[in-house]
Amino acid sequence: MKNPFHTDTLEPDQPFCNRVAELRELATHARNGMNVVLFAPRRYGKTSLVTRVQHQLRKEGICVIYAQFMRLVSVEDLVHRLAKGIMNGLHEHESLLEKGKRWLGHFPSIQTSFTIDPATGLPAIGVQMATRQTDPMIALETVLEEVGKFLEKENFQICIALDEFQDIVDIKEPRVEALLREHIQRHKASYFFLGSRRRVLLDIFNNRGRPFYQSATMMELDALPENEGADFIVSQFELAGKQCPRNVAIEIVKKIEQYPYYLQALAYRAFELCEKKCLSNNVQEAYKSLISNERYGYQAIIQGISAGQLKLLRAIAEEKQASLTANAFLQAHRLTLGGVQSARKYLSEQDLIEKTNDGQWRIVDPVFRVWLLQAF
Ligand SMILES: Nc1ncnc2c1ncn2[C@@H]1O[C@H](COP(=O)(O)OP(=O)(O)O)[C@@H](O)[C@H]1O
Ligand SMILES: [Mg+2]
Repeated sequence: MKNPFHTDTLEPDQPFCNRVAELRELATHARNGMNVVLFAPRRYGKTSLVTRVQHQLRKEGICVIYAQFMRLVSVEDLVHRLAKGIMNGLHEHESLLEKGKRWLGHFPSIQTSFTIDPATGLPAIGVQMATRQTDPMIALETVLEEVGKFLEKENFQICIALDEFQDIVDIKEPRVEALLREHIQRHKASYFFLGSRRRVLLDIFNNRGRPFYQSATMMELDALPENEGADFIVSQFELAGKQCPRNVAIEIVKKIEQYPYYLQALAYRAFELCEKKCLSNNVQEAYKSLISNERYGYQAIIQGISAGQLKLLRAIAEEKQASLTANAFLQAHRLTLGGVQSARKYLSEQDLIEKTNDGQWRIVDPVFRVWLLQAF
C-alpha cells in the first residue's frame, strides 16, 4: 500500500488539506494586481500554497513567476535566481521554443540556454547574466528595468512570488532593498512576498524607515484547523486502503499542535506502523520515530547558536510559555536580563521563538520543543 502522506513541497496535484479561503484570497489579490506578504513559521505550507495558487492562475492565462530567495549569498546570486525565475515563468507561459523565443529580445541582460535534462528528458532552461555587466547592483537594476519595460509592452497579467524574501537582508547590501522597492512599485504586476523568519520579514514591511514600508497586504497563514486536519488524515488513510478512526486522527493532529508539516510526517509514520487500522499506540510509536528522525535537523539548529542562546531556548522550552523579563524566570534559570535580551533578539530573528498575543514567549516548533526537553 502506497503511503498517502508527503513531506516535500506539495505539487498542485497532490492531496491538500483545507486552505480553501487562503487559496481564494491569494488568487483574488493576484488578479487585482495587489502585493501580498504571506508569513508563517517554516513548514507551514506557504510554498505549497503559492504553488497551487500560481498553478490555478496559470490556467486562467495569468503569467506566473516564482523565485526562491532562501539562503541568498550575494547580489549576483539574487540576480541569477530572479533571472531564472523570470525565464522559467515566461517559458511556461508561452514556450520560448515554440514561439520563436520572442520573449528573449526583451531581456538582453539575461543569456538563456536550452538543454535537455538527462534525468527527465525535458528541456531545461539555463540562465547566465550577460558578461559585460560586472557590477551586480547594475545587473540587478538592469533586470528589474527590463521586467518593467516588458510589462509595459506586453499587456498581460503577471504574478511574481519571491519565496523566503527576508533573506535579502542576509546579503548585507543595504541598497538592494531600496532598489527592489523602487522598481517593484512601478511594475504592473502582483507580487507575493513569502517568508518564514517572520520578525525579519515583517520588519521590512512594517518599519517606517524602510523602503517597503506598508507596500503590501499582510496575510498570515495559521496552523491547520483541527477538524480539517483530522478529516484529511481519515480520508487519506481510506484512499490508501487503511483505516484511521476519527479519534485517532484527532490524536495525531493534537500531538503536533496542528503543525502542517508534522501532520503529514506523523501520519506518514503511523500509516507505516499500523496494520489495517491505525491505533493509538501506533501514534505513540510513530511520534517516537518522528522525533528520532528529526533530531539531525534539531542538532544542526543548536550547533548554530551560542551557549547563551541555547540556555534561553531550553529555559523557554521548560516553561512552555515564559515572561522573559520576569525576575522569577530569570532566577529559576540563572539568566541575566542583558543576556536574555540579546539571545532573544537572535532567536526570534531565526524564528525559533515567538511572542504570543499575551506577551509571553514560546518555542515556535512544538516537536523541537519536546526534543529539547528530552535531549538535555
Ligand atoms: N494544506 C496542507 N495540507 C497538507 N499538508 C500540508 C499542507 N500545507 C503544508 N503541508 C505539509 O507541510 C510541508 C511543508 O510545506 P511547505 O509548503 O514546504 O512549507 P513552507 O513553505 O511554509 O516552509 C509539506 O510538505 C506538507 O507535508
Ligand atoms: Mg517554503
